[in-house]
Amino acid sequence: MKIVHTIADLRAQLSPFQRPAFVATMGNLHDGHIALVNQARPLGDATVVSIFVNRLQFAPHEDFDTYPRTWEADCDRLQAAGCDVLFAPRETDLYPEPQTYKMHPPAELADILEGHFRPGFFIGVSTVVMKLFSCVFAGKSGGIALFGKKDYQQLMIVRRMVQQFALPIEIVAGETLRAADGLALSSRNGYLTTQERAEAVQLSKALKALGEAVRSAGVANSAKREKLETEAMQALAARGWQPDYLSVRRRADLLPPSSAAPEPLVVLGAAKLGTTRLIDNLEL
Ligand code: PAF
Repeated sequence: MKIVHTIADLRAQLSPFQRPAFVATMGNLHDGHIALVNQARPLGDATVVSIFVNRLQFAPHEDFDTYPRTWEADCDRLQAAGCDVLFAPRETDLYPEPQTYKMHPPAELADILEGHFRPGFFIGVSTVVMKLFSCVFAGKSGGIALFGKKDYQQLMIVRRMVQQFALPIEIVAGETLRAADGLALSSRNGYLTTQERAEAVQLSKALKALGEAVRSAGVANSAKREKLETEAMQALAARGWQPDYLSVRRRADLLPPSSAAPEPLVVLGAAKLGTTRLIDNLEL
């Protein structure tokens, strides 16, 4: 595995390849990331992973400084997973000057759910993803980029961005990996105390129960659906969580379901347990 830090070195390493398969990460790699790398390997002619903790997507009060950085372990895992090129830019490599040109995803997709509770988050994500795409794919005939369904809204926003800018990149989704008890794997799980870790699975349980309740109540009944969503949040709050949202949405555009006609749905949620904010979702 070649490790490169600058955009020029990355492009030089990738020059013999025409169709890289790319996984963007912020490091602190867990089995979910490695599953994406495994999924990526047969899809392209080179497997590229980036590790970059992107300051642009963190609000000043969020965990940019304390975000777990586990460089040695990440390198070992990527080497073992058959990654060909690890791109680990320093901040000055990716943002040599303040990144004043930014991607602004549409409000109807980016200012709801996560974007409502983390204003500007998807501007930061879209900007870095666009820039990483330019680093990896410039001059290529095409390529593949893999994103986990765990960050469902992120996946959808990146898909739309690629579609609207006609980038020659195929976006491939990876399934969410879960611990034995059902907790979705996430770098932020490492922040949980032992007691919180035992409790953490209640978020996915709440999403499942909410999905089932809404399905049997009928999704077209918006008053009933909103009541069930509120009750699901109250139930989590009663266990000591601080829920931001638990919501049933259409998979196509993340808007609330509108008709009784069957349409693919997803139930998404975010809640804080202690000081750790967890997100999860389940496709119904
Ligand atoms: O999902 C993440 O880890 C980040 O949002 C990403 C896509 C690497 C952009 O910084």
